[in-house]
Amino acid sequence: MAEKEIVETSEAEIAVHWGEEKLYHPSTEFIAQANMTDPGVYERFSLDNFPNCFKEYADLLDWHEYWHTMLDTSDAPCWKWFVGGKINASYNCVDRHLAKNKNKTAIHFVPEPEEEKVEHITYQELYVRVNEFAALLRDFAGLKAGDRVTIHMPMLAELPITMLACARLGVIHSEVFGGFSGRACADRIVDSGSNVLITTDAYYRAGNLLNHKEKADVAADLAGKDGQKVDKVLVWQRYPGKYSAEETPMVEGRDYFVNDLLKDYYGRRVDPVPMPAEAPLFLMYTSGTTGKPKGCQHGTGGYLAYVAGTSKYVQDIHPEDVYWCMADIGWITGHSYIVYGPLALCASSVIYEGVPNYPDAGRPWRIAQNLDVNIFHTAPTAIRALRKIGPDEPAKYNYKFKHMTTVGEPIEPEVWKWYYEVVGKGKAAIVDTWWQTETGGFLCSTIPAVTPMKPGSAGPGMPGIHPVIYDEEGKVIARGTGKAGNICIQNPWPGGFQTIWGDRDRFVQTYYARYCKNPDSKDWRDWPYMTGDAAVESEDGYYRILGRIDDVINVSGHRLGTKEIESAALVVPEVAEAAVVPVAHEIKGREPDLYVALKPGLEASPELAQKISDAICNEIGKIAKPRKVWIVRDMPKTRSGKIMRRVLGAISNKKDVGDVTTLANPDIVEEIKKMAEAG
Ligand code: WTA
Repeated sequence: MAEKEIVETSEAEIAVHWGEEKLYHPSTEFIAQANMTDPGVYERFSLDNFPNCFKEYADLLDWHEYWHTMLDTSDAPCWKWFVGGKINASYNCVDRHLAKNKNKTAIHFVPEPEEEKVEHITYQELYVRVNEFAALLRDFAGLKAGDRVTIHMPMLAELPITMLACARLGVIHSEVFGGFSGRACADRIVDSGSNVLITTDAYYRAGNLLNHKEKADVAADLAGKDGQKVDKVLVWQRYPGKYSAEETPMVEGRDYFVNDLLKDYYGRRVDPVPMPAEAPLFLMYTSGTTGKPKGCQHGTGGYLAYVAGTSKYVQDIHPEDVYWCMADIGWITGHSYIVYGPLALCASSVIYEGVPNYPDAGRPWRIAQNLDVNIFHTAPTAIRALRKIGPDEPAKYNYKFKHMTTVGEPIEPEVWKWYYEVVGKGKAAIVDTWWQTETGGFLCSTIPAVTPMKPGSAGPGMPGIHPVIYDEEGKVIARGTGKAGNICIQNPWPGGFQTIWGDRDRFVQTYYARYCKNPDSKDWRDWPYMTGDAAVESEDGYYRILGRIDDVINVSGHRLGTKEIESAALVVPEVAEAAVVPVAHEIKGREPDLYVALKPGLEASPELAQKISDAICNEIGKIAKPRKVWIVRDMPKTRSGKIMRRVLGAISNKKDVGDVTTLANPDIVEEIKKMAEAG
């Protein structure tokens, strides 16, 4: 319950209240070609058939050794899937496609500068490059199964190559979003215990070639100070053979150009290491309620089976499709639905380096037209931005989507309809997929040829995923009552994370303690998984997700912990107290607003506000930049001295602050309100 007390303003509280929308049905043309058209799938994956239903997903993969136990619950709630099985993710995403499809494009890499050539990497080419790099990682970097490696790379073809090379060796990769700062990268290096960092010298973003190597220097230095020495920094070059970050010298004996080293590994082949199904494949850090990001540990067999199954049935990927997920591989969406899911199915997956609106709002549609993309996947924040700056652009281009996805945050029905009518030209089926870093793959979504779409609603639970909404007391909220509550999942599923890296207690506390029926139980029925989102279930069993119930803000579909931002603000010596609240934003969905109080005797100034904002960008990355830094005389506080974030949240969102008479300092509320109104 302690965790509950600190939640004083949440996304769910500022959630918009949309009405129930009408249903949309996919075209017969779509249904005729779809991978999954059998409504019986829900029955096959019902709780009565759990867990054996997931054999269907496991059988999409090639196993070195077939598993003997579907689900082992003996270490509840750390579930083990497909126990006894041996498998390699790199083999499943690359080698097994060669016999029939070696000449097929695996990855279309689209550089941001439009004058640069698109690179089409075939499965054979991918195989060669993954093998050579795996040989380098093993023989030069000394990596072996179970070691961790931190990758801090932007959207380049070398990123999936790096991941697949790690997976080939059983090395656990931890990719840090390229936009994160050196500091944020250092924290993840330390937590995961990586002594090798893989990075890139530079990449394009919004027309600029950014120096990325400088972040590696910061990361390696800070990690060293925190007790984790980085022995080797492997630097891919944006332009092979040329160093694009010359102002940041390479450190002798620590930094190496991958392209130079690779010459010694030409032609080398590395046997994929058969890994136990439950061996960790990767870590993905995500924000939680405390300052420290959590390393979500994903296993190999369960994860790969789940992302392959959902890519096939929800993304409707066929080998002949051209599939473009515009997310970043630095987030879970990219891991599951750019790299592992699509490549396991032998898809052609597009990787775009840059921002969607560069050089103009027609860019995504030109890429789609030129590569003949027919499955498109993005987040509401990008859809809102493209709708705002180029509402008529899609009509100018000759592409044809059969399927589109929205992911990462709730999508407003108005925005959904633009996506449907204008981007999808009224022809594409849409899936609104709700899930999390922790869950590995989709939790709720429609099955595009089976369940109709409803704007603003994620849809029913996925086959084999059985959601339930609990109220604060743990009572089930029945469907159709219009009441919101905490959405949980009743059963485990193969894609779920295994634990928080190195912190099992936190794993159990955060996700299971609240609604656990019996902490000693080894029966999965006693361990509902708490997602941390608020939701309502309509009469027809569709779930509408309202947002986070905890101290997490979803900015442009990316999760940021308020505590993380607050600790970053407190790095500035002048700052005594900091409080972050989510504010509704037209394009980003949510944005952080930062309130700070200074140490006694100090004066507010625009320079100081700037310094605090810069500190946050430095500590975390630009993505966390506050909309505004409000320097206030004092924070609104309860008599026991707790900051009332609820009041600040109401002020930032121009809502009624409610009764503040019980505060220790009610006068400050008026003062802050006036300040906010004056802007
Ligand atoms: C939110 C991203 C509404 C939700 C895959 C969740 C969504 C958090 C949706 C996870 C959706 C994700 N509709 N909200 N379709 N998808 N969310 O870990 O609050 O970056 O808990 O994973 O995003 O964010 P994460």
